[in-house]
Amino acid sequence: MVKRVFSGVQPSGSLTIGNYLGALRNFTKLQHEAECLFCVVDLHALTVPQDPKELYQRTLDVARIFVACGIDPKLATVFIQSHVPAHAEMSWLLECSSYVGELRRMTQYKEKSSKQEVVTAGLFTYPVLMAADILLYQTDEVPVGEDQKQHLELARDIAIRVNNRFDEEIFKVPEPYIPPKIAGGRIMNLQDPTEKMSKSAENPRGNIAILDPPDAIQQKIRSAVTDSGREIYYDEENKAAISNLMVIYSLCSDQSLEEIQERYAGSGYGQFKKDLAEVVVETLRPIQERFEELSRPGVIEAILAQGRKKAEPLALATLERFQDRLGLLPLLRS
Ligand code: AMP
Ligand code: TRP
Repeated sequence: MVKRVFSGVQPSGSLTIGNYLGALRNFTKLQHEAECLFCVVDLHALTVPQDPKELYQRTLDVARIFVACGIDPKLATVFIQSHVPAHAEMSWLLECSSYVGELRRMTQYKEKSSKQEVVTAGLFTYPVLMAADILLYQTDEVPVGEDQKQHLELARDIAIRVNNRFDEEIFKVPEPYIPPKIAGGRIMNLQDPTEKMSKSAENPRGNIAILDPPDAIQQKIRSAVTDSGREIYYDEENKAAISNLMVIYSLCSDQSLEEIQERYAGSGYGQFKKDLAEVVVETLRPIQERFEELSRPGVIEAILAQGRKKAEPLALATLERFQDRLGLLPLLRS
């Protein structure tokens, strides 16, 4: 049996090289060994205020970036969460099997809600919608960043709870896949290596966006903070800034950290940064070119229509089974 993989990315900002190295690049490898579904989770983005025009544009752009980064729509299913209404329906059903107490414990909720003027109920139930995304597809494995681990744990708890209640495997219990830091699992902000590089960061100076033009990339890398001393070696604790730049260099050039360290022994930060900028620009160039091609009218729309067609029957099979077990009357879908 081939395993099934599901992951989602929110259209809540400009995707960064952190998203690419920590997530999308791994997705392109997984699509050859597993049945993959990659979803632009637009409903999740609505949990905090969004400008409608921007959300619309970003949703299309995230889908384009998926494909531009190498996700092949013939191998993997690329679709928009709101195009498969079963996600919202399943979310409600699962909310009725989730506890306020466990949702209150979610650290991301605590963090995000403390920054909002008003806190929507959607922000609170957000992890249940995420559980619905995953459980609808009988997912085996979910590649996510470290910060999503707790949400995945909740999805597992809900699945186990429902399965136990009905004494039947209604939902496959999913496993997280979290890449190690050194493999891009946590690319840090160029201005503050204690913070994750995040697409929704207020100050874009510390982020390299996948669509940043070469001069912006060069500028951001030139002004990236460095640590004291001049030597280039990997030491996450004492040289967090340089270690982060080394990880980016290593992943973009396929050279090991040792090779990079040897290469720049005694040469200081200037040359290293100059070369790093070039390596990053060259990594993103083909992605940006494909993005342009995918921006022609109708191209991404056709891919998304095909994705929805593949995803929806899988989702409905799980939804209808759960509805039946709960005692809801069957709906005759024509
Ligand atoms: P987010 O941008 O937080 O919605 O995350 C989308 C996907 O990209 C998730 O799988 C994250 O784990 C991954 N990701 C986001 N930011 C980073 C980062 N700075 N380093 C590595 N992976 C990241
Ligand atoms: N909450 C995830 C994030 O912010 C995005 C997401 C939504 C997701 N549904 C998902 C990730 C299902 C994996 C699987 O990164």
